[in-house]
Amino acid sequence: MTEVSPVARLAEPLKFAYWVPNVSGGLVVSTIEQRTSWDFDYNKKLARIAENSGFDYALTQTRYAASYGADKQHEATSFSLALLGATERLKVISAVHPGMWHPGVLAKFIITADHISNGRAAVNIVSGWLKSEFENFGLEWLEHDERYVRTEEFIRVLRGLWTETEYSQAGKYYNINEFSLNPAPVDVPGRAHPEVFFGGNSTAAQSTAGRVADWYFSNGKDLDGFRENISGVLASSTDAGRGSEGALPAPRFGLNGFVIARDSEKEARDTLREIVEKAHRPAVEGFRDAVQEAGASTKDGKGMWADSSFEDLVQYNDGFRTQLIGTPEQIAERIVEFKKIGVNLFLTGYLHFQEEVAAFGTDILPIVRDLEADLARRNGTELDLSGVSAAASLAAL
Ligand SMILES: Cc1cc2nc3c(=O)[nH]c(=O)nc-3n(C[C@H](O)[C@H](O)[C@H](O)COP(=O)(O)O)c2cc1C
Repeated sequence: MTEVSPVARLAEPLKFAYWVPNVSGGLVVSTIEQRTSWDFDYNKKLARIAENSGFDYALTQTRYAASYGADKQHEATSFSLALLGATERLKVISAVHPGMWHPGVLAKFIITADHISNGRAAVNIVSGWLKSEFENFGLEWLEHDERYVRTEEFIRVLRGLWTETEYSQAGKYYNINEFSLNPAPVDVPGRAHPEVFFGGNSTAAQSTAGRVADWYFSNGKDLDGFRENISGVLASSTDAGRGSEGALPAPRFGLNGFVIARDSEKEARDTLREIVEKAHRPAVEGFRDAVQEAGASTKDGKGMWADSSFEDLVQYNDGFRTQLIGTPEQIAERIVEFKKIGVNLFLTGYLHFQEEVAAFGTDILPIVRDLEADLARRNGTELDLSGVSAAASLAAL
């Protein structure tokens, strides 16, 4: 049995997100059947299914060029805005690259998206791994850790422009001079501004996220791997004084996991085996070369995919490692084990998104809520479901 960590938030219900399939080819690089489409009509329906199945967030991917498949890509911010327009409660997190945007232009764009959606816009700041995307656009490809220097400045500009008037910031990459953005983002209780998510695993990524991100997203991990990540981020957040009076609250944690829920564990494992057996080998190997090139320049070699095996990379964010594979009961139990060590949100992927997101809401989420309530009670607190939307509570009945 996993011990409950002091950083676990037992009274807070876990949150759930799904990867928006806005690039072609699904979430696994395999010729196995994937009843998932990257087109907008499919995604519009999926977003509505997700918000009626208890999902809180959708995360888009930003990609400008093909690699490991993903031959066609819809642009992330416009796609996210359209999904916000098609839904009522779902928060949509748009992935963006510093280096491709000026932070002031993005801050303004997100404020408008926030007003259109009544306070549901969010961003995922990704520092980039696909060198050719930058170079072929004629943009500078910064060395690995330097990308995080720019990212940190970028996030500080976003937060400054969203929360202050006549904001100034002088830095290496951006210089903002007494700028006020009007209107400000929507005033949403419990949120200081549109939420800033952040993805990356390296030491530089962890310490940057610890200083400035609202949410840290990890690639798929087992329990020990996630503990290691969270402690790196928390050490940096504590050093920065976060969580104390007047400072930024401590960051929250999201973990990627590829969900294979079937009636029996054997069926789920067989599905995983088939995904890997039918992997598109040249594409996975090409991806491995690109990402290892991207991570190789970290000082300690701890880039995001540094220790990923071939099997891991078939789901390109190491989603099998989290092991959300088995019956709904097994998956719910596994999810709550991760809650005990500090996961606040699960970012999920599937073979057949529309069907499996709906099934997650009916078959897995109610068990998760029961287990969470139990866990809270055993530790002397109560699970507070008051912030969970009506549709999600219905799914949990
Ligand atoms: C949840 C998550 C989502 C990501 N989404 C994107 C994306 O949409 N586009 C992109 O280029 N990189 C994306 N990344 C990759 C990061 O930008 C970064 O390149 C990667 O984490 C490698 O960083 P590292 O070497 O510092 O670990 C994502 C990473 C995570 C964890």
